[in-house]
Amino acid sequence: MSMTTDLTERYRLFSDEEWFDAIRKSVQDASLGLPAFPPDELVRRANHAELELALTKASEIFRVIKQMARTYGRPLGPPSTVLDYGCGWGRVARFFLRDVPPANLTGCDVDRELVAASQRAMPESNFLSIEPDAPLPFAEESFDLICSVSVLSHLPAPVHIQVVTSLARVLRTGGVLVATTLGRRHLGLMKKWARSPRQDLEAGQQKWLDALPDLDAATQRYEYGEFVSGVTGTLAGLLPGYGIAFAPDAWVQARWPDTLEVVDINHDIWSQSVITARKRGLP
Ligand SMILES: C[S@@+](CC[C@H](N)C(=O)[O-])C[C@H]1O[C@@H](n2cnc3c(N)ncnc32)[C@H](O)[C@@H]1O
Repeated sequence: MSMTTDLTERYRLFSDEEWFDAIRKSVQDASLGLPAFPPDELVRRANHAELELALTKASEIFRVIKQMARTYGRPLGPPSTVLDYGCGWGRVARFFLRDVPPANLTGCDVDRELVAASQRAMPESNFLSIEPDAPLPFAEESFDLICSVSVLSHLPAPVHIQVVTSLARVLRTGGVLVATTLGRRHLGLMKKWARSPRQDLEAGQQKWLDALPDLDAATQRYEYGEFVSGVTGTLAGLLPGYGIAFAPDAWVQARWPDTLEVVDINHDIWSQSVITARKRGLP
């Protein structure tokens, strides 16, 4: 039996808390047999945070994704096929390995180096580099569950729509999509940053403020249901318009494709807004 299949067997009966704890400990303890971590530089590139905080946030969003999948009719289990869209270095993807066999776990991202880090950490799962403008290399109706954590949060409106439409195509009928975007919580946070002396802010925070110089106007537009975005320059060479993006509920309800029923938008369960949708049609 291979290392990762052993892993699913070994941790299958762990509670969420025990499982999250094992992943946290695996940063220091290779004997746990859990997926390895990339260099700190890649963690910062993908998550703008140190590893410990990045993992804590990942465990929180994994819990929400799992709960949404159960609530909306696609509980995670050995038969589930899962796609992590914009998987980065596999921060969130690894949490699925207790519930889902590694071969059923797929991740994709436009950043080749991050995809390679995911594949090295989880060799029995499927990690693919994708082109931002090309169709997704998966058959229609491939996945029971798709998650996309902190990806739409960075994409301008036309790309947001294009991505969600592609994800709807590869989601199975009755399958669940959980995606996060920035919301009013982040606008509030940015207003706090704006009140601090500029020299006290981290470079990333300054960049975000520069991308949205009039926060009051941005908030007003958001509350009116307008998509609000600004370019930070990160990844700009690769993806024009990459930056920070706030998608209000009314905009999501109106603009997401009809094949998806938006069943929940929650602003309070995680640091970003969490949108859950189910693919319409006969299950
Ligand atoms: C903030 S990181 C989050 C990574 C990962 N989801 C996580 O939570 O750790 C955003 C990720 O989205 C990827 N990305 C950006 N635009 C994308 C696109 N159009 N399609 C797929 N991935 C994209 C970036 O390369 C990056 O890995």
